[in-house]
Amino acid sequence: MIVAVDGPTASGKGTLARAIAAYFGLPYLDTGLLYRAVGRQVQLAGTNPDSAADALAAADFPDALLSDPELRSEAIGGFASRVSIHPQVRAALLERQRAFAQQAGGAVLDGRDIGTVICPDADVKLFVTASLDARADRRFAEMQSQGREITREEIHAQIERRDERDMNRKDAPLKPAPDAFVLDTTALGKDAAIAAAIEAVEQARGKT
Ligand code: DC
Repeated sequence: MIVAVDGPTASGKGTLARAIAAYFGLPYLDTGLLYRAVGRQVQLAGTNPDSAADALAAADFPDALLSDPELRSEAIGGFASRVSIHPQVRAALLERQRAFAQQAGGAVLDGRDIGTVICPDADVKLFVTASLDARADRRFAEMQSQGREITREEIHAQIERRDERDMNRKDAPLKPAPDAFVLDTTALGKDAAIAAAIEAVEQARGKT
């Protein structure tokens, strides 16, 4: 069973994808990390994330970079969003994601274009969303618990910028696949969202 989980920044898609993977005993790939590694490599090299050639050169990053703790920062999230605009970068990361999805027994992948581009034939497609305010609140609480110095207004603005870039790029923009189940987590706590996601997978699986 291949499960595709897509959605905007701070929607909770990573938490839900991980919970689905654990529940069904499937391997899990956070595809955002690949774009983050490209963004980090650009930052380390001091090159330009808005240049397709520079971003493509950075797509050849060493595997060790995937465990760099800096990848989780919002700064690198911004770099990742910028390098992900270039079709050359997306093409360079495509095979790695498809190979992961094709392994025996199946897999869970989360990202922006899993149900639309990477795995259009996925058995189950979830599109996880939540209001911009709810996402800003969650990200702010997360940052505060990590002792990071950033205001809620800054986070709100960063998320809005990322949404705008991720949804409006030409190649593989963020959007629900026509056959995706849309799960709005605005009014749901973590446990309720996980229960709803697992229920949605069970239902979608029953139909295939
Ligand atoms: O999910 P994330 O915040 O870690 O993703 C970081 C950026 O990477 C996101 O803003 C856009 C890009 N991305 C993408 O274009 N396609 C994916 N499948 C995953 C991430």
